[in-house]
Amino acid sequence: MINKIKMDVPIFSPSQDSIWLDAHLAPNMLAAHLDTEFDGATRNAKYINQSMKWLIETCPVQDFPKLLDLGCGPGIYAEKFVEAGYQVKGIDFSALSIDYAKKAAQEKNLSIDYQCGDYLQADLGKEQYDIIVLIYCDLGVFSTEDRKRVFQKVYRALKKGGRFIFDVFTPQKYANFKAENTWQLEENNFWTQKACLHLAAQKKYPETNTYLDQHYLIYPDAIKEFFIWETVFTPKELLTELKTCGFADGEVFGDIRGTQYTDDSETLCLVVEK
Ligand SMILES: C[S@@+](CC[C@H](N)C(=O)[O-])C[C@H]1O[C@@H](n2cnc3c(N)ncnc32)[C@H](O)[C@@H]1O
Repeated sequence: MINKIKMDVPIFSPSQDSIWLDAHLAPNMLAAHLDTEFDGATRNAKYINQSMKWLIETCPVQDFPKLLDLGCGPGIYAEKFVEAGYQVKGIDFSALSIDYAKKAAQEKNLSIDYQCGDYLQADLGKEQYDIIVLIYCDLGVFSTEDRKRVFQKVYRALKKGGRFIFDVFTPQKYANFKAENTWQLEENNFWTQKACLHLAAQKKYPETNTYLDQHYLIYPDAIKEFFIWETVFTPKELLTELKTCGFADGEVFGDIRGTQYTDDSETLCLVVEK
């Protein structure tokens, strides 16, 4: 195990377990989504409200009525879009989040089309949507090939003149990055209920500006393995890739609240048009 964690994992290798789908972690990720104070699985409530205000101003419902939310989680943004008058479909591969989202929408009497599935695999349709959003920097988790697949699927699913809006982290997020190996004993906390040894490593793959947050939870009878990949971007890199997938030039912002992008921005948000 020590050798395994010391060795370089080939870039973008999938891990055996997923933080979004693991039986112990998925409920914790859902709780993190629902925590209005903390930027965990979603942004804090104040940020989300600022984001919604800007998104609604940027893409008014009368011009952009039909919206697809990729990785919608428990529906925090989806509900707000529907309340603002948009017709919304949300996709997420966490059954726990989608079940929560469906129940919450029913209780609030909101009509939202939720689908439990992997948006990399799902058929998103052709020329269906005026807006497609991918919120909270999830594009960064994909390999270069899968990112291109997301762009192609989104392009196909957008109507002509439709907009793709997403945010990602920039190299600024990792300005003070240090490769590290750590170990801890864990019990009854975010990572695990039963006692285990937790080996963790943070690594950099400079060729694509990709980082790996690598975790092994070691139990007497089992090992869980989580690889959390994150690629960071400059606007130019993304705009070039998007152009090769057919998108027109886009507008660059510092985050998904529409702030100004600067060299110090830790995130960037793109609004690109089909
Ligand atoms: C960082 S959270 C953001 C959730 C939501 N966009 C927000 O900001 O509140 C990422 C979400 O994407 C989902 N997800 C990640 N990869 C996915 C995939 N390939 N297909 C469907 N859902 C995915 C996760 O289950 C999780 O709910």
